[in-house]
This record gives sequence, structure tokens and C-alpha cells, in this order.
Amino acid sequence: MKPIRKAVFPVAGMGTRFLPATKAMPKEMLPIVDKPLIQYAVEEAIAAGITDLIFVTGRNKRAIEDHFDSAPELEAELAAKNKTQLLEIVRNVIPSYVNCIYTRQPAPLGLGHAVLCAAPIVGNEPFAVLLADDLIDAPTAATQQLVETAHQQNGSVLAIQNVQREHTSKYGIVSGDKVNGKTTLVKGIVEKPSPDQAPSTLAVVGRYVLEPEIFEHLRRTQAGVGGEIQLTDGIASLLQERSVFGHQYEGTRYDCGSKEGFFQATIELGRKYHGLQ
Ligand code: UTP
Repeated sequence: MKPIRKAVFPVAGMGTRFLPATKAMPKEMLPIVDKPLIQYAVEEAIAAGITDLIFVTGRNKRAIEDHFDSAPELEAELAAKNKTQLLEIVRNVIPSYVNCIYTRQPAPLGLGHAVLCAAPIVGNEPFAVLLADDLIDAPTAATQQLVETAHQQNGSVLAIQNVQREHTSKYGIVSGDKVNGKTTLVKGIVEKPSPDQAPSTLAVVGRYVLEPEIFEHLRRTQAGVGGEIQLTDGIASLLQERSVFGHQYEGTRYDCGSKEGFFQATIELGRKYHGLQ
């Protein structure tokens, strides 16, 4: 498999679960302690060797572009006041060798559609997808774990996690055959099955390494659950032709797209990394 240098960040969702906070501000800019969700995801991608960050944005998302751009007035102000530590923080939001590329999803037609919007920029190489609202605190960056598995197995890889059966209807759920302790060759995937219909309790979370063939499958994918073009349906079609693996990553995931997960992440990361009580 070719090296994985590009990552897609779909950030065009409406974030309705956080209204009114997300009325004029992107959900991905909500901070856990002092860093926006999107920056945790970007740092994870960079730790996995990604150099090209592709953001699929929508309306009201300009704050994300501003966040990853330089801020000359703020930097001048901090420099004039000798606030060198803060100046470093502002300057080092991303390393200079990393490229940020922005494209727009004209309407929130679903995660699969958002990923497809990145196709002309990704081209014909494998790439990562990170959903910033899944924050994964891990000793080795979760994306790095998927990248390693993709190279070992020579196929696409989905981050998976065992969930309680009563929660299957919140996730894409995979079925398949174990390749080793942590990796499963995926034979089937369904979006948000009810607990009695779910083929397993292995849930897909917001990290993927995908081969570029996914784009042809997404182009053929019709709207599914919720009237949206689902990435899950594109993957279900991809796995008819190519190998797709599920990898049970090591780390703690916080569903920061929900208030419970957001609150838990704030408390636990606040304690762990900031000494807050
Ligand atoms: P969610 O299902 O969490 O939807 O999307 P949402 O709109 O962001 O949030 P709620 O449910 O209304 O509160 C999962 C990820 O897919 C992106 C979102 O930005 C988020 O990162 N997404 C979703 C898109 O980029 N485009 C879409 O059309 C849908």
C-alpha cells in the first residue's frame, strides 16, 4: 500500500445536538479545556505522519480556517507584551510543513457525501478520515494504529470498538472473521441497526483508512438512513470487491458529539493533562 499522507476531516455537519452553541459556531471549534475538538484530531493525524489536511467544510465554518491560519495581529500583540509562551502556542497550532486544504460540501447530504467531496483532492491514494467529534485519547495515536494495520493487512481499515448491545442503533456495526486479537476481516456492515438486528456489538467509530476505490462506491451510493448518503453504505459496497478490516484500537474514546461524552472528556482530560480538580 502507498504511504498515507492525506487526511479528510468532514466538518460540514450541522451540530444540532449542541444548539444554541453551534448556531453561529462550528461544533468542531467547541473546546475540551483549551483546545478545539478539531485541533485534537489534527494533532492525531500529524502524529500518524499525515502532511495534507483536507477539511470538508460548509456554512458557518470559517472559524476553522481562521484557526489553522496565522494570526498576525494577535501574534504582534503577544510579542509586544513579551508573552512568549502564548506566542508559541498560537504559532504552533500546526507545523509549517503541513498543508491545509479546504473544500466545501454544498449541503449536508451525509458523511459519505462529505468524504466524496474530497475525491478530487485525495486522488488515487489511500487516505485517512477523522471525525473530530470522536476524541480518542491514546498512547499511540489511533490514526497511527489504523495506518499500521492498513500496511500490514494491505486493505482499508475502520476503527472499531465493542459497545453494549442496547447502543448498536447509534453506530455502524460490523460482522466478520477475526484475523488476530485486534483485527477483524469485515464481511458485513450496517448503519444503526436496532439491538435485535445487529450482527455483532463491534461498532465503527470516527477513524478510517480508506483505499481510493471507496470513491467509485460512494458515487453509486443512494441516500440511506436519515435520507443521507452514508459512508457505511459506501463501505458495504467497497467490501464486496476489496479487503476491509476492523481494528480494535487501544485508547479511550469520547463521543464529543453528545453532551455526555463532551462533559466526560472535559472532566477526564482536564484532570489528566491540566491538573484540574
Ligand atoms: P453527525 O452525525 O455527528 O452530525 O456527523 P452533525 O450534523 O455533525 O451533528 P448533529 O447530529 O446534528 O448534532 C458526523 C460527522 O460527519 C460530518 C460532521 O461534521 C461530523 O464530523 N458530516 C455529517 C459532514 O461533514 N457532512 C454531512 O452532511 C454530515
